[in-house]
Amino acid sequence: MRTLIKHILTSKEPNEAVVVKGWVRTRRDSKGFSFLEMNDGSCLANLQVVVDHGTPGAEHLQNFTTGASAMIEGRLVASPAQGQKWELRATRIELIGPADATYPLQKKGHTQEFLRTIAHLRPRSNLYGAVFRMRSKLAFAVHQFFQERDFVYVHTPIITASDCEGAGEMFRVTALKGNIDERPQTDFFGKPTYLTVSGQLEGETFACALSNIYTFGPTFRAENSNTARHAAEFWMIEPEMAFCDLQGDMDLGEEFVRAMASYALEQCAEDLALFGKFVDKGLDERLKFVVERPFVRVTYSEAVEILKSSGHKFEFPVEYGLNLQSEHERYLTEAHFKSPVTVYNYPREIKPFYMRLNEDGKTVTAMDVLVPGIGEVIGGAQREERLEQLLENMKFHNLKPEDYWWYLDLRRYGTVPHAGFGLGFERLLMFLSGVSNIRDVIPFARTPGNADF
Ligand code: 4AD
Ligand code: MG
Repeated sequence: MRTLIKHILTSKEPNEAVVVKGWVRTRRDSKGFSFLEMNDGSCLANLQVVVDHGTPGAEHLQNFTTGASAMIEGRLVASPAQGQKWELRATRIELIGPADATYPLQKKGHTQEFLRTIAHLRPRSNLYGAVFRMRSKLAFAVHQFFQERDFVYVHTPIITASDCEGAGEMFRVTALKGNIDERPQTDFFGKPTYLTVSGQLEGETFACALSNIYTFGPTFRAENSNTARHAAEFWMIEPEMAFCDLQGDMDLGEEFVRAMASYALEQCAEDLALFGKFVDKGLDERLKFVVERPFVRVTYSEAVEILKSSGHKFEFPVEYGLNLQSEHERYLTEAHFKSPVTVYNYPREIKPFYMRLNEDGKTVTAMDVLVPGIGEVIGGAQREERLEQLLENMKFHNLKPEDYWWYLDLRRYGTVPHAGFGLGFERLLMFLSGVSNIRDVIPFARTPGNADF
């Protein structure tokens, strides 16, 4: 029976017979014996193995090279070496799969750019092992957060005919050959279809039945922005709450981000320590800050005033009615407030049709949560629940009501105030790990010009 290294390293007592399977990180040879550093991905730390050259299997030690897979049987004993509690004294070793000198992850520092070109091997490096263990834990934490609060998990469709965000940044799904726009009614679904940019519209139908719901799934955007925080395929979490307004929405969004930071601090300590050491020295402090301090809230117009009077030179213009760019968002959260910030009440022109129009007739109940190092991590809103107003919003945004007949029905039958938001899972992971490029927190990044692996 094989034991995972993470369990071995947290053993309470010595063990006469342990079996380890993993990959050799390094081998050091001495007179009469060798040291192997073994890693199986279950934790960051390696297990040190001492192999006496008389051990059965030791005649093949020369093949226990970096990257090779192996089985080690041995006795777990207290280690005399510094910095580790346990070491394994091998009683039998066996090579499973060799790795020759062409193995690209020979022990030395590699750049993240290089490691992206070997995305199939990079999970075997310390940094990416840590990132993807944390990704798994946080995915669990997301479900736990919502399930504990009685939210129902809904699987919204990936193929859709509607552009939720109205930005036209969608990937077409088609079974047609040749000119796909010529006769879309003969296509597989009888009309043009796309990969979803958001599960929100379908999510709203379920919130207007089951009260509190959330989605957590793949999301696609064909925006051609080659930035460190945009991916063409990413994972989004979208809660939607019936009988909820903008205040309640902001409360939940902030509580959610805080809970995820708190979970990471408690459950991913070993991996966080690695990020703190090699990726982002201020990480621990920042996460604790987020857990302990309330988020700042400002309206969009206040935010624009702050930016205009900041004296800071921005690449993009700041003007009421223009979208906030990443540099503006980061200025607000990193330089001005030095804290996460929730910006709300944006001009209706720059936000989608489904947001609720405020009394002023100019702004909508939008909210974005901005965090240091990333900028926008959450985008959400209270939804327009009044049928007449929603129809007016659609006209304002040049949308055809007949395309959204089922969405309008929610306002025809038992309409309720409701609100929700979307959080980009990769952006959350960037924030929690300090890793600064979205390509490094998703197993296989899909970005403009890149669909390798
Ligand atoms: O602000 P967005 O576009 O909001 C929506 O899609 C709403 N329908 C959500 C809702 O109210 N249910 O996207 C939400 C979040 C962003 O704040 C960002 O974190 C992430 O999704 N996101 C991306 N992450 C990675 N790559 C991209 N191209 C992203 N686009 C959005
Ligand atoms: Mg947004």
